[in-house]
Amino acid sequence: MIPKLELHLHLEGAAPPALIRDLAARRHIDISGIFDERGRYKFTDFAGFLAVYEAATSVLQSPEDYARLTRAVLEDSADQGVVYAETFLSPDFCGGGDLSAWRDYLAAIEEAAAQCAAQGGPELRGILTCVRHFGPERAKRAALCAAETAGRFVTGFGMGGDETVGAQKDYAWSFDCAREAGLGLTTHAGEWRGPQEIRDALQDLGVTRIGHGVRAIEDLALVDELAERGITLEVCPGSNIALGLYPDLRHHPISELDRRGVKVTISTDDPPFFHTSLTREYEGLHAAFDWDEGQFMRLGHTALDAAFCDTDTKARIL
Ligand code: ADE
Ligand code: ZN
Repeated sequence: MIPKLELHLHLEGAAPPALIRDLAARRHIDISGIFDERGRYKFTDFAGFLAVYEAATSVLQSPEDYARLTRAVLEDSADQGVVYAETFLSPDFCGGGDLSAWRDYLAAIEEAAAQCAAQGGPELRGILTCVRHFGPERAKRAALCAAETAGRFVTGFGMGGDETVGAQKDYAWSFDCAREAGLGLTTHAGEWRGPQEIRDALQDLGVTRIGHGVRAIEDLALVDELAERGITLEVCPGSNIALGLYPDLRHHPISELDRRGVKVTISTDDPPFFHTSLTREYEGLHAAFDWDEGQFMRLGHTALDAAFCDTDTKARIL
């Protein structure tokens, strides 16, 4: 199996529906409306996706729940041949932004990850993330949690959520705080808004990676700039297609961005929500663009270069 690296994976977004259903039943929380008749997450658009995501996340209520989630996600990743993954972790969901609660959640997640790695599973790192539609004040609390817990495991800071709310610059304080703590920086941009959002992310937040970023293709001067500056895109083709951004892989810009010299990488975003896995992404890209093992290894090295972990870890991965 080709060794795979994944830079863009939301931990709650990777939660198997069965795990979420089990926790909901134990806690007597009725979230049956978020599942279809086959037990899969059900939504029709991006706003609906975010609502279902948050409803599913609402049943994860303790550090032990997150430890269980981490183990389940890493077992799936191991099955895909993943050797290294970075996952978005949100202090808003883990303890409501409170630093002391966040430390408890983090300890549980980190311990679960260490156990999985010791058993030959993927090496995991955390990118703390604020949620854009929760607003800049809550983002500051997430950034402070990130700065206080930065280290070997927490290696990055990012922003997800609804890109159509507010502006990247509203979150500049949080990204400055995280940068000063030595964290790598990434933000979702160029998924639901166009090229200007990516320019704003680079200029106002100083990120070196962009979550998605695929709509850069609508502005070829920006594509050239991304290539020249060596900005890495965390591309999630299956997510983009499931959410209706592109009709299918053949219309997806990943291949064109790669051809134009942009550093692209392959991730799943929220795999059970989008009925995908890293293996399925690779199979689809092989079928659509005839990408072969050499190409996938090249993109694996691109991901490793852009990973936020320390150089000793990188030297052990591929
Ligand atoms: N949170 C989880 N998945 C996301 C996505 N695709 N875009 C923005 N926020 C997210
Ligand atoms: Zn995402």
